[in-house]
Amino acid sequence: MAQFTPRVFSGIQPSGGLTLGNYLGAITKFVATQDAGTHETVFCMVDLHAITVPQAPETLRHNTRELCAGFLAAGIDPEKSILINQSQVPEHAQLGWVFNCVARMGWMGRMTQWKDKAGANAEGASLGLFAYPALMAADILVYHATHVPVGEDQKQHIELTRDIAAKFNHDYGVDFFPEVEPVIEGVATRIMSLRDGTRKMSKSDPVDASRINLTDDADTIARKFRKAKTDPDPLPGAPEGLDQRPDARNLVNIYAALSGASVADVLAAHDGQMFGHFKQELADLAVAKLSPVSDEMARLMRDPAEIDRILARGAARAREITVPILERTYEIVGMVR
Ligand code: TYM
Repeated sequence: MAQFTPRVFSGIQPSGGLTLGNYLGAITKFVATQDAGTHETVFCMVDLHAITVPQAPETLRHNTRELCAGFLAAGIDPEKSILINQSQVPEHAQLGWVFNCVARMGWMGRMTQWKDKAGANAEGASLGLFAYPALMAADILVYHATHVPVGEDQKQHIELTRDIAAKFNHDYGVDFFPEVEPVIEGVATRIMSLRDGTRKMSKSDPVDASRINLTDDADTIARKFRKAKTDPDPLPGAPEGLDQRPDARNLVNIYAALSGASVADVLAAHDGQMFGHFKQELADLAVAKLSPVSDEMARLMRDPAEIDRILARGAARAREITVPILERTYEIVGMVR
């Protein structure tokens, strides 16, 4: 196996505002990886993925800049990490086309995200939504990235990325694309809806009370946690006591992720407490952690030209990596250069 520089890539869709799920499941981990300094880090707003479902143009532009502000406010440093918007680095889409020709229809049809999003109306879904995971594989592999921090819901797509890399290497008799590793760690890999602890917290959920948005003010955050679904029992003293209690487990997980403590420690400290009280503490903790981030986002959004400059510079840095990898890919495939 060839040796690859340890490099992290991950992306977030600008298809709505950032949620607490994105923040705890993805962004805080991106910042930790960046600050550990063990890997080169590339983080991306995936605007081409966002348009696989309809987006109003001005809203998409706003959400892309706001997502960039979210990355910066949470601690992504554009000097330490490469921070980009996908469509500004054309090699993503170019390698995506090659991978459309490597990936098989059957592989795509088995993706649970495709099945969930297309639902019963697959005939009416866009071709882009079907091909979505091939572009995602290109996002990662156009950097020869080796590690991809994501939430649990993206695991299947990373496995498909490995399949695409392996098939490309096999079909062309090369050892060119690395075997990527998903990094899915900690208590926040699957933050659930505040209204239903068996469903993922999602920016596309029509019920706003189901999620905390990074742009929510303190009162809204407190109200959403107060109204969060729970069961009538008090908090248990140990993690086993959360079995079969998805709503209770979710709130405890969120508390643990926000405070940096383990679930066992959170429960030991709150053993026997009623949820009414715990939710108030959780709301206070969430406001303390999130309001500096949302204030900084709002400040950054007052200067969109500066955001655009950061993204232009990120794209230029990214292309130092992606152009040679795409060129080599085209050579391998047999394109005249
Ligand atoms: P997206 O935009 O849905 O979510 C971005 C990241 O946030 C994580 N996440 C969650 N984690 C925990 N609990 C939740 N409720 C929750 N909701 C979202 C996701 O797992 C993800 O890590 N296909 C990707 C975007 C993408 C990408 C890539 C990711 C495109 N290309 C290449 C990694 C590498 C997506 O739709 O994420």
